[in-house]
Amino acid sequence: MGKTIIISNRLPVQLQINNGGINAVPSVGGLATGMKSVHSGSESLWIGWSGLTDEDIPAELEGDIDKALKKNGCAKVSLNAEEIDGFYYGFSNRTVWPLFHYFLEYSEFELNFWNVYKSVNQKFADAIIENSGEDDTIWVHDYQLMLVPQMVREKRPNTTIGFFLHIPFPSYEIFRTLPWREEILEGLLGSDLIGFHTYDYERHFLSSVRRLLGLEVSFNDVFMDNRVIKVDSFPMGIDYKKFKNAASSHKLENSEERSDLQMRLDSHKASAPDTKLILSIDRLDYSKGIAKRLNAFEYFLNKYPEYKEKVRLIILAVPSRSNVPQYQLLKKEIDELVGRINGEFSTVNWTPIWYFYRSMPFENLIDLYTNSDIAWLTPLRDGMNLVAKEYIATRTDKTGVLILSEMAGSAYEMNEALLINPNNFEEQADTLQKAINMPVEEQISRNTFLQNRLERYNVEVWANEFMNALNQKRELGHAFISQKMTDGCLNSIMEKYTKASKRLLFLDYDGTLAGFHKDPQKASPDEELYELLDELDNQENTTLFLISGRDKQTFGKWFLPKKYNMIVEHGVWISRHGEDFKMLEKVKGQWMEKIRPVLESFVDRTPGSFIEEKNYSLAWHYRNTDPDFGEKRATELNTVLTSLIGNDDISVLNGNKVMEVKSSNVNKGRAAVRMLGEDDYDFVFAIGDDWTDEFMFQDLPDSAVTVKVGLKKTKAKYHVENTKRVRELLKRFAKP
Ligand code: ADP
Ligand code: G6P
Repeated sequence: MGKTIIISNRLPVQLQINNGGINAVPSVGGLATGMKSVHSGSESLWIGWSGLTDEDIPAELEGDIDKALKKNGCAKVSLNAEEIDGFYYGFSNRTVWPLFHYFLEYSEFELNFWNVYKSVNQKFADAIIENSGEDDTIWVHDYQLMLVPQMVREKRPNTTIGFFLHIPFPSYEIFRTLPWREEILEGLLGSDLIGFHTYDYERHFLSSVRRLLGLEVSFNDVFMDNRVIKVDSFPMGIDYKKFKNAASSHKLENSEERSDLQMRLDSHKASAPDTKLILSIDRLDYSKGIAKRLNAFEYFLNKYPEYKEKVRLIILAVPSRSNVPQYQLLKKEIDELVGRINGEFSTVNWTPIWYFYRSMPFENLIDLYTNSDIAWLTPLRDGMNLVAKEYIATRTDKTGVLILSEMAGSAYEMNEALLINPNNFEEQADTLQKAINMPVEEQISRNTFLQNRLERYNVEVWANEFMNALNQKRELGHAFISQKMTDGCLNSIMEKYTKASKRLLFLDYDGTLAGFHKDPQKASPDEELYELLDELDNQENTTLFLISGRDKQTFGKWFLPKKYNMIVEHGVWISRHGEDFKMLEKVKGQWMEKIRPVLESFVDRTPGSFIEEKNYSLAWHYRNTDPDFGEKRATELNTVLTSLIGNDDISVLNGNKVMEVKSSNVNKGRAAVRMLGEDDYDFVFAIGDDWTDEFMFQDLPDSAVTVKVGLKKTKAKYHVENTKRVRELLKRFAKP
């Protein structure tokens, strides 16, 4: 097996040019900090942007840049200032970031941003192709690179590609406002496995795939052309040991080893030993809810004035995306809020808020985590929020209280924290009060649970789980599905076809010979299909049957003049050589009076659905309903019908977006086997796309060539991708 290639916009280090030399500083942000631990322990290559634009790099330093990156196991994608503007500051952070975090009003839908995003994604895809081999596993990260999987897939159809989204995937209602929504989904679906932090994000994504692309989704598999894409949630962990060990050694530091920040914290503690330190650390981002947190703090001080001089809020805001106007406005807002609240509440001995606007080295983060009694994290939306996990990991004596927003992905796994709604100031003030007064035993008990979970499901386990799922996908391939009809298979089938002296062919219609149409009556055969069927039907020694669940009126109109053999309504009626339809199976229709009102009530309650009434069956179609709602109703109807029909001689068939109630002794398998018994056929062929065709695949003898259209679980031996491939196959039969 080859190596793993990690691709993200941000590399684990950012290069800077200082005094004519190159400096590599660690990147901030969940993706880079989390993946860094995965990368450092493996043979992987990490491809991304160095942090410098082409214009920033003097020609004489070009080589040094590559060397500096190579030292860190990285390779660069070069981007110029215009590309960074359109791709990074533009589409990534002025369109996708706000939209996916539910800040619809901040989202800018600029065609130019989109065009640059596409071309830069292509650059990343090209860099992957250049730096990897067929056997390598590609792991693409985050919202900046959502088109990359598809772009790589086009050039390397068989490469294994995983994608992980580190931010929320919004609900369909939000996502559908994006003008380029289909392209984004198709880009992502170039992957074999798509990972999200939480089940909710996964659910939202699958819902958009079904509604916008109309693709078949079964549990967490998406069926697209000839591929199955797996979608799953993997909540990202942290490098638990790194934080725990850093906190343990921090405790043992002597006074010379202590940082300036730690000394300041020490003197603060000495002068005011009863004061509680409340900490928040975030990138300066509107999604983090920093302004609301400050307002909530003010609310708290007013509601519980007894805590004045008894608490201090430390806000560490890391500069981020400062070229984006919304971030500049936020910076101004926070500066003003901190100034106002400090101005309002400060006393000679006390400033309520300490505010740092800078990036800090790891040691200082540990100083802050270990010295704070409470961590207060209030994102309005956050894909995960690793700071919450890092705070808990550094609490070596298990004390400390975590107050965490329900809107953070990490809240799903951190139930023992005090979870709050960041928009509810009343609740936040009360929770702060509760946190300040929480007995140590309770803190220990809550943190023991949290720590155990974080230690177990750390970032290494997270990455392994993702990679295992991806590799499993590679090994399994489409094992549960039938064999793909390759050129090789078709050639050997053709050999049997030409040698055979009596051939029998069963062809299903909807979804096989013709695609689906919103109105079934409009899915009539085209000229090309008639010509193809004529050729097959006129062949020597060949008996052709169209076999369908359709009613005899429709098929009579379309095919009777052509004199093709037909079996319709799943096997109730038969017509040969242009003769009128005759009954093939004796069926009773009295049950229909009982079932029709039930179906009618489902039509009333399910917009877009309708009943098709055939002579001996009733079909409830739900192709045109909302996909999720339609499936839900279909399950409900199935339950109702099953209990209603009891031991009657009728059964329910679940077809492709249709549920059909019909007599039990009628199905395509039974009809096909009857036809088979009429002569000495030595080549039998059946092709179909849905559940009702499975009866043929199951009942025909083993020697029959059975073919499923689409990639679903089947009893057929082979599969082809779509109706276009069906016609190609039949054209070979027509000209053996
Ligand atoms: P996001 O990914 O949105 O930035 P996370 O909380 O998931 O938010 O991740 C932030 C990461 O950045 C954490 O791993 C944290 O340790 C790191 N970090 C945050 N602030 C700083 C800082 N001032 N200096 C260095 N690293 C920081
Ligand atoms: C979030 C995103 C990352 C991004 C990070 C820092 O964690 O999911 O993709 O790298 O924020 O943002 P930046 O724009 O500085 O890369």
